Amino acid sequence: MDQHMGVASKEEEDREEKRTVPEITLRPFTLSDVDGFMTWATDDRVMRFSRRPTCTTKDECLTHMKDLIMPHPWCRAICIEDDGRPVGLVSVTPAPGADVHRASIGFGVAYDYWGRGIATAAVKKAASAVFEEWPLLERLDAIAEVNNTASRRVLEKAGFQREAVLKSYLVLRGESMDMVMYCLLSADSMVR
Ligand SMILES: CC(C)(COP(=O)(O)OP(=O)(O)OC[C@H]1O[C@@H](n2cnc3c(N)ncnc32)[C@H](O)[C@@H]1OP(=O)(O)O)[C@@H](O)C(=O)NCCC(=O)NCCS
Repeated sequence: MDQHMGVASKEEEDREEKRTVPEITLRPFTLSDVDGFMTWATDDRVMRFSRRPTCTTKDECLTHMKDLIMPHPWCRAICIEDDGRPVGLVSVTPAPGADVHRASIGFGVAYDYWGRGIATAAVKKAASAVFEEWPLLERLDAIAEVNNTASRRVLEKAGFQREAVLKSYLVLRGESMDMVMYCLLSADSMVR
């Protein structure tokens, strides 16, 4: 009986942990984040919507970080623990050329941390930060594969507006995919 109650309360504890949105911080990456980075960059469940191949080794993760993460104009580690180990990534990429009023957001969270509101909190924080840091920004875009329900839900929870379905828009893993275009026109239109 006691044993069963113990199991029940552990399950209840786990459910409670999932219901509580942890306090998150965003900070730039350093190469010493590679172990945290590996938890999602080597996981197909996280990487399958990315145009980058899934890493298979620590060396590949380090190369990816050196080539793409460190030089990126705005890429942040999502951290929830006091030890600062990243559990995900959010990036905002300015549009090329003269379109300085436009940028696009991307994000991913390590599988063990899904469903706790972490991506939604990170997207909101990132959007607030870039609208403040980049005064010329008028429009933050996001595109999500039509069947990527979690990603679409994150964007909608953060207040992004759905604009259009872009048929056969991106090639992901060798297949052309229909994508949904979302946008946020100011930090004020975010859901707080
Ligand atoms: C998308 C992703 C970042 C979400 O991270 P997360 O921290 O779990 O997101 P949140 O907890 O803030 O919100 C997820 C929402 O999607 C919902 N959701 C997740 N999977 C779902 C599914 N299969 N069907 C319906 N809703 C789903 C959750 O219930 C939650 O909504 P709710 O709060 O209304 O219940 C994560 O799943 C991921 O890393 N996916 C792979 C990478 C990716 O797709 N990146 C985005 C590319 S545009």
